[in-house]
Amino acid sequence: MKIILSKKSLIKIIQGEKNLGFVPTMGAIHKGHLSLIKKSIKSSNKTIVSIFINKPQFNKKVDYQRYPRILKKDVSLLKKNKVDYLYLPTFNQIYPKGPSKKIKITSFGKKLCGKFRPGHFESVVDVVNRFINVIKPNKIFFGEKDMQQLKIIEDFFYQNGIKIKIIGCKTVREKNGIACSSRNILLSKKEKLIASKIYKLIHKNKKNLISNKKYLLTIKKKILKNGINKIDYLKTININKLSRPYKKNNKYKIFIAYYIGSTRLIDNI
Ligand code: PAJ
Repeated sequence: MKIILSKKSLIKIIQGEKNLGFVPTMGAIHKGHLSLIKKSIKSSNKTIVSIFINKPQFNKKVDYQRYPRILKKDVSLLKKNKVDYLYLPTFNQIYPKGPSKKIKITSFGKKLCGKFRPGHFESVVDVVNRFINVIKPNKIFFGEKDMQQLKIIEDFFYQNGIKIKIIGCKTVREKNGIACSSRNILLSKKEKLIASKIYKLIHKNKKNLISNKKYLLTIKKKILKNGINKIDYLKTININKLSRPYKKNNKYKIFIAYYIGSTRLIDNI
């Protein structure tokens, strides 16, 4: 695996790659990331992974500071999984003139996490756009774990005529049901147990939550009884109506964001 530290060498090294798969990440690599990487390796000639903790997309300074940083472990895991290139840019290389204030995204970006993290998705799209302008991949891989992010990027590519193929990948879960996430490292054993209970509660009641909106309130109350002090949202959404080209059939998912202690977790089930 080639580790690339600068934009200049990146351009030189990947020049002429014909079927390049790109997996953008913020590191603390886990099974969820690895499923995207494996898919890319299977369907591309070469796979490039980036690790860049994109400061502008964090609304809270503490969240950025607490974000797990385990680069050594990440590098060995990526090597083991036969990644071709690892790109580790600095802030200045990505933002020589600072982040863009002109990124326009779909109105869905104001809902769910966008409502509670203003500017978050604009910053995600900004960084992804900067990466693809340099890397020029044929395919880019995103996880359904961050469904809103995936749909917003799909819409941005559609609106801006970006022809890179977006591959959405299923959410990978721990045995106890919780979605793999870099932030899980921050959870205690007890907190993981709570997160698992919440997943199971939603999973078990999914049908009722879809057919009866009032049921959301019942489940919210149950979640709050489980030691959760804050739910940002619990919502049922038809994901086929979210990004163009729209699909005709209905596919509902229950979207949740909540805090366990000071750790914010999101999922869609
Ligand atoms: P990060 O949270 O590191 O996630 C990188 C990619 O892995 C995203 O596409 C995310 O949806 C996917 N992923 C995370 N957990 C997953 C799981 N349990 N199952 C399947 N896929 C999973 O998302 C980001 O970074 C950043 O916003 C980024 C796109 C890199 C821009 O900074």
